[in-house]
Amino acid sequence: MTKYKLVGPITQLLSMDAIPLKGAIIDEQLPIILDAGILIEDEHIYSIGRYADLEEDAANLDAEIIKLHSDYVCLPGFIDAHTHICFSGSRANDYAMRNAGKTYLEIAKSGGGIWDTVIKTRTASQQELCHSVIKRANSLLKSGITTVEVKSGYGLSCNQELKMLRAIKEANLYLKSDLISTCLAAHMLPKDYNGNHKEYLFEIASTLFPVLKAEKLTNRIDAFVEESAFSKEDIEPYFKKAIQMGFDITTHADQFTTGGSETAIKLNAVSADHLEASTDKEIKMIAESNVISVALPGASIGLGCGFTPARKILDAGGALAIASDWNPGSAPMGDLLAQACILGAFQKLSNAEVLAGITYRASAALKLNDRGKLGSGMLADFCLFPTNHFNEILYHQGKLTPSQVWKRGDAVYTEH
Ligand code: NIG
Ligand code: FE
Repeated sequence: MTKYKLVGPITQLLSMDAIPLKGAIIDEQLPIILDAGILIEDEHIYSIGRYADLEEDAANLDAEIIKLHSDYVCLPGFIDAHTHICFSGSRANDYAMRNAGKTYLEIAKSGGGIWDTVIKTRTASQQELCHSVIKRANSLLKSGITTVEVKSGYGLSCNQELKMLRAIKEANLYLKSDLISTCLAAHMLPKDYNGNHKEYLFEIASTLFPVLKAEKLTNRIDAFVEESAFSKEDIEPYFKKAIQMGFDITTHADQFTTGGSETAIKLNAVSADHLEASTDKEIKMIAESNVISVALPGASIGLGCGFTPARKILDAGGALAIASDWNPGSAPMGDLLAQACILGAFQKLSNAEVLAGITYRASAALKLNDRGKLGSGMLADFCLFPTNHFNEILYHQGKLTPSQVWKRGDAVYTEH
């Protein structure tokens, strides 16, 4: 039987409706409903509007009334469109070494970096990985994140990548939030692989890709396009094979050196993530394309290096999402809201641009059109912050957290 609920009154509801996908946004463009209500029909939103206007509908539909008694600001559930939360072990040593003067690439070359996490992740069982994903995704849920992208990429052999992706699929069954998995077998050339970059990628594409399809483990293929990982030339045939088989592609691009964004644009990737090293040339190209730029301030904070030129991307007309990149190496913090606030402060982004970057524009980075905005027919994924004005949320730089998080029509987290 269909279940209806009316939640409200909500002091300010920011639906993110009518926000453009691309380009700069000013706060005055934010659609705000005052004294709002959300009428829920099972997992979806039946309608939003003024609470008083929804009461009659709610009575006719025999809706359960969830009455709120203090000030709240409601936003769509946040979407973290780029994480690596399926991993084992810590890289605290790398962090200490970096802060003592070694670079990320020097540490990687001397046996630390991604490979260190690969060794630890390979020894973990599927069940252990599944538990670690559940734990991390649940901590994200408390900060309002109702959809989380999760990459493999610490297995780096067909069987080990399968273990990771199966762990993510299994974790999704136990979680309230939705996990969107991505295959990142092209994270680096495994040090124990007996062959070159092209041979490794060929083996992954011919052996792993068909199993990903058969077991429905993911429909997204990612690659780290970088001097220390895979070149543009290595990646093109790999991505073309993925596209032929019906996968969407996404990239780790222009993190330390440029090149990846060009490949992303040429092959019509859904997103190009990182872009810290992008110059005006890459910014212009990406802004003119349909590729979503994903800024990862957590990696800049973790590595102590410059931020993605988010302001320039927006001013050039680009679509900018913001994600945490939560991983044990470059981005250990795992706090999307705090990182998005900090990016906003350093890159001079409007509150509207920051909020769009973790809601509607992040949904586009995952090609999900049923979330990221609040309105009829969208998923009833939203969070309620204990304040009377949306400016307070970013002002507190991650310290103001939701009192309630709703996922698919249910209150899945309530602060005590
Ligand atoms: O997005 N850049 C490559 N991959 C990850 C880092 C992974 C790691 O250091 O373990 C990133 O920053
Ligand atoms: Fe990443």
